Amino acid sequence: MLERERIQPVNLLEYEEAARAMLPPEIFDIVASGAEDLVTLRANRAAFDQWRLLPRMWRGHTRVDLTTTVVGQEIAMPIMLAPVSTQRLLHDQGELASAAAARRAGTIFTLGACASTTIEDVAAVAGPWWFQLYLFRDREISRDMVQRAAARGASALVITIDSPTLGRHEAVERNRVNWPESATTFANVVPGAMAGAVHDPAQNWNDLEWVATLTSLPIILKGVLDPDDARIAFDFGARAIVVSNHGGRQLDSAIASLDALPAVVEATAGRGEVLIDGGFRRGTDVLKALALGARAVMLGRPFLWGLAVGGEDGVLSVLEMLRDEVARDMMLGGRGSMTEVDRSFIVPTGPLGSRI
Ligand SMILES: Cc1cc2nc3c(=O)[nH]c(=O)nc-3n(C[C@H](O)[C@H](O)[C@H](O)COP(=O)(O)O)c2cc1C
Repeated sequence: MLERERIQPVNLLEYEEAARAMLPPEIFDIVASGAEDLVTLRANRAAFDQWRLLPRMWRGHTRVDLTTTVVGQEIAMPIMLAPVSTQRLLHDQGELASAAAARRAGTIFTLGACASTTIEDVAAVAGPWWFQLYLFRDREISRDMVQRAAARGASALVITIDSPTLGRHEAVERNRVNWPESATTFANVVPGAMAGAVHDPAQNWNDLEWVATLTSLPIILKGVLDPDDARIAFDFGARAIVVSNHGGRQLDSAIASLDALPAVVEATAGRGEVLIDGGFRRGTDVLKALALGARAVMLGRPFLWGLAVGGEDGVLSVLEMLRDEVARDMMLGGRGSMTEVDRSFIVPTGPLGSRI
């Protein structure tokens, strides 16, 4: 408790330190960890440094407008919550707290397939929300989830396609003896049905046709890195894709999300919305992705640190901190609205060269 009061985070990176100080190490590691040597985890952050912003002066914007739309839904800021499993590990209100915070911030909450709270309970407190699906080995589990989520008002279905098997998190493996049971207890499936059932290496693009027969919800595919996969996603009728390497938790040495973004945007121009996640911690990170063509970004670990430190208010504080940074940085950059955050706002690190 003393620890909790001592540390007053002033930015998202400090929220991680505050959470580290108060969480049991085995729980902190479940969230913080990445695959193998953490090459991709680190690359997600390092990629932002390859780009610089090119501000315009004296534009006279007395306020900046952060509103945008994603898949037809208006949100108050271009920042949403990424799907994350078992949030009750971090706070007893778990997904209920995160969903309520997203609602208060005017943005979208994404409920994970492996959540620790039921679809029905989350729907009762959420504002606009999406449901994230895994294609489970037992497809009936997936079918049941999609139908329940649609019936309770999910406005899109996010299908995570980067997980034919689980990436190896060695820090977590070392701690396994101390794992809380809640880490593997999923609220939306009948008890016992999950063992070994999450990851199905047989899943492939044809499964999307089957999913489309289950629901008329817009489909968003999460975990795209290769421009060819992005094209295929839109060929299959996806409304949006999420450029993502699962926060560096799946294939280690996979390309950083931001590094994958420009080619994906170029390959799919105008065919659907491109979202992105992985390593977003600063307003300038968000602006770099938007300038490179992303519609909005999703936040993973930072909101979990907020949840651990302060429940619903902690998640809200994280969202508001990042929102305020984006707003201030837009004003400093001479951009008044989302449409002004375009390619002219960003340059590769180094001398300006051909633009002079
Ligand atoms: C503890 C944890 C659990 C996650 N669980 C899921 C999940 O169940 N489904 C999914 O699609 N992504 C999952 N992710 C990945 C996030 O949706 C997101 O891609 C990633 O966290 C973004 O990177 P960031 O944490 O650097 O913001 C999880 C991430 C973390 C940290």
